[in-house]
Amino acid sequence: MTLFKFSMKKGKMGEQFMARDGKYILRAKAKQFPIKTAMHLLLKALRRQRAFVTYFWDKEQAERIAYIKNLYGGSPMGTTMSEALQIYNAVCATSKIMGAMAEVGVHKGGTARIISVARRESAKALHLFDTFGEGLPQPSEHDDYNWKKHAFKISESEFDAIKDAFASANNVHFHRGLFPVDTGHAVKDKRFSFVNLDVDLYQSTKDSLEFFYPRLNKGGIIISHDYRGSSGVTKAFDEFFANKTEPVVELSTSQCLVVKV
Ligand SMILES: C[S@@+](CC[C@H](N)C(=O)[O-])C[C@H]1O[C@@H](n2cnc3c(N)ncnc32)[C@H](O)[C@@H]1O
Repeated sequence: MTLFKFSMKKGKMGEQFMARDGKYILRAKAKQFPIKTAMHLLLKALRRQRAFVTYFWDKEQAERIAYIKNLYGGSPMGTTMSEALQIYNAVCATSKIMGAMAEVGVHKGGTARIISVARRESAKALHLFDTFGEGLPQPSEHDDYNWKKHAFKISESEFDAIKDAFASANNVHFHRGLFPVDTGHAVKDKRFSFVNLDVDLYQSTKDSLEFFYPRLNKGGIIISHDYRGSSGVTKAFDEFFANKTEPVVELSTSQCLVVKV
């Protein structure tokens, strides 16, 4: 799916239009009637093509998008810009909740960097869990055929580069190994306010939910990539929350989100 973002603001030059999907940026300062009309027609056409069109004119939101867009230029990331923004917003929403933050499924640190920056001055501890080497564990019969053992494998030098990228970030902790069997013990007595899961597989998602749910404070958020699009992730969430109060909220792209009550 192509993601287009569209913003419209009034400035000295008249209204300003922008549509972008990470690759294409279309911007026009439309003072004159024909350009303005053309831009409205273009938007209509994009919507008809089922392009994902959203509106941003809030200054803070625009700053978050600019940051994410900049990150896209320099770091590999498996999420769309819209998903990255969703993570950023969810981290901000938990600023008043006590507890550390965590991500399981870090790979080269794309979404982890978003979480790290969105923490802002709170500087809550951020715990990053991944095999950081072996990549995905063995998929199960509940997983789609496209997930393969060792996908997202990284080398020692790549792991060093990921750690270097976080060198100036405060209170970030790397946990290398299979989660939770190898690394869960390091945080077993901690409480959490935000957890991002991006592990692709049934067993990893199920284990992560079993580990973090009891340690998540009220108002804390668990967000996961691939709730739509990866049958193992869907099954793990649906099974785990079947007998819980919290609804699993499907977001507009592949993610889902749960707020602990
Ligand atoms: C799709 S990648 C993560 C992408 C990352 N969030 C980004 O922004 O680019 C999935 C990662 O999950 C990790 N993973 C899956 N199950 C795991 C488990 N049980 N323990 C540790 N890491 C796991 C894999 O090693 C892989 O790096």
